[in-house]
Amino acid sequence: MAKTYQISDGNTSSELDLVEGTLGTPAVDVRGLAGTQGVFTYDPAFTATCSCDSDITFIDGEAGKLMYRGYSVEQLAEQSSYLEVCYLLLNGELPNKTEMDEFRDAITHHTMLNESLVKFYDGFHYDAHPMAVLTGIVGSLSAFYHDKTDVRDPEHRKIFAHRMIAKMPTIAAAAYKHSVGQPKIGPKNQLDYTSNLLRMMFAVPAEEYEVDPVAAKALDVLFILHADHEQNASTSTVRMAGSTGANPYAAISTGIAALWGPAHGGANEAVLNMLAEIGDASQVPKYLDKAKDKNDPFKLMGFGHRVYKNFDPRAKVIRGYCHQVLEHYNMQNNKLFELALELERVALEDEYFVERKLYPNVDFYSGIIYQALGIPVNMFTPMFAIARTVGWASHWCEMMGDPKMRIARPRQVYTGYDLRDYVDIDKR
Ligand code: CMC
Repeated sequence: MAKTYQISDGNTSSELDLVEGTLGTPAVDVRGLAGTQGVFTYDPAFTATCSCDSDITFIDGEAGKLMYRGYSVEQLAEQSSYLEVCYLLLNGELPNKTEMDEFRDAITHHTMLNESLVKFYDGFHYDAHPMAVLTGIVGSLSAFYHDKTDVRDPEHRKIFAHRMIAKMPTIAAAAYKHSVGQPKIGPKNQLDYTSNLLRMMFAVPAEEYEVDPVAAKALDVLFILHADHEQNASTSTVRMAGSTGANPYAAISTGIAALWGPAHGGANEAVLNMLAEIGDASQVPKYLDKAKDKNDPFKLMGFGHRVYKNFDPRAKVIRGYCHQVLEHYNMQNNKLFELALELERVALEDEYFVERKLYPNVDFYSGIIYQALGIPVNMFTPMFAIARTVGWASHWCEMMGDPKMRIARPRQVYTGYDLRDYVDIDKR
């Protein structure tokens, strides 16, 4: 028998269906409430709202667990590759060898940009933030692939996903090249996904460039860990824009815009800036006091999460990986990493952070690795955007293929004026 949930306003009561997934907290189906009870549900910031069904990613926030299509993110980071994880997220299953070869081939052959699109970069100042450039360039892809994209056609949706995953490194690397005034370097088909990205960012026409396999592997692991995170702010934004039937490339650019904020993906850049500002372990208590002071806007960046009330499993893997990468580059005594470890140690013993279950999140340690690889701080969030593109595309494809999909349109509690008469301007 289906489980129900009883609510009452004191006079009448309603039985609401409970919607249960395969794992996780059940949800009360409130869709009929406005009709039967004449009330809406109130949940600003969606702290208790499930916006859809999804088969893609599961988070157990209390236990600090994350799975893509049933596979733990730790195991994928250890044993899989970013492109294989992309296939998994998009298609629901790990590929066999033939499927993987075909997928790799499809991604490899969509990496180039239309030359007209490349001209758009010249419209940006050299010091434009790369996330602004990414938002603009990816939004502009919609102009190149509009008439040819039928959002109801699964084959068109697949081609869109492949194009997006393939072109994001090219787009982000070109944004970096524009900012440093160097010629853009095109993709090279024989390189793997992250090697290709590193080459497009750091090669110059005047010299041979050899990709460091340790750097490529480190990026690959970081990309696996950032690939999807269920209904986070940017993914929900992509879903919402997509629910109107909008062009999917335009929908992805809304996700990039949402990711940029410091409460979301922009936190990786903010963490590095914060560590640089703190500067020294002796300053940690002062900055913790600032983070706890409600009159001070300062927050400990890279700490806290809406869903995790335990260590973010991605942060654990990245922290471990920091040691390996720093050792490889002979940077064992990296001051920022030491400072981050000290900040974590002190915060996790502090009552304020313990009480609120505030732990390091994915953004706390990732910047240490990016920096060791020579990636500039303002490119940290674009790295996140490249990795998350598959998540956005997978969610958009899942939503568009769902016959229950309707335009996403929340309601509100109106707190403005009641009806009043217009007053002529000279009488105001
Ligand atoms: N530093 C100090 N206090 C904090 C922090 C922090 N980083 N995070 C949360 N709190 C406090 C918050 O002030 C509140 O205190 P009180 O109960 O006294 O009012 C309590 O902890 C609960 O926090 P909240 O603001 O209600 O939590 P939220 O779910 O609305 O926000 C968050 C989650 C991630 C936006 C927030 O923790 C934050 O701003 N963290 C810093 C930014 C950051 O690292 N973002 C990356 C998130 S993970 C990657 C991603 O999403 O892309």
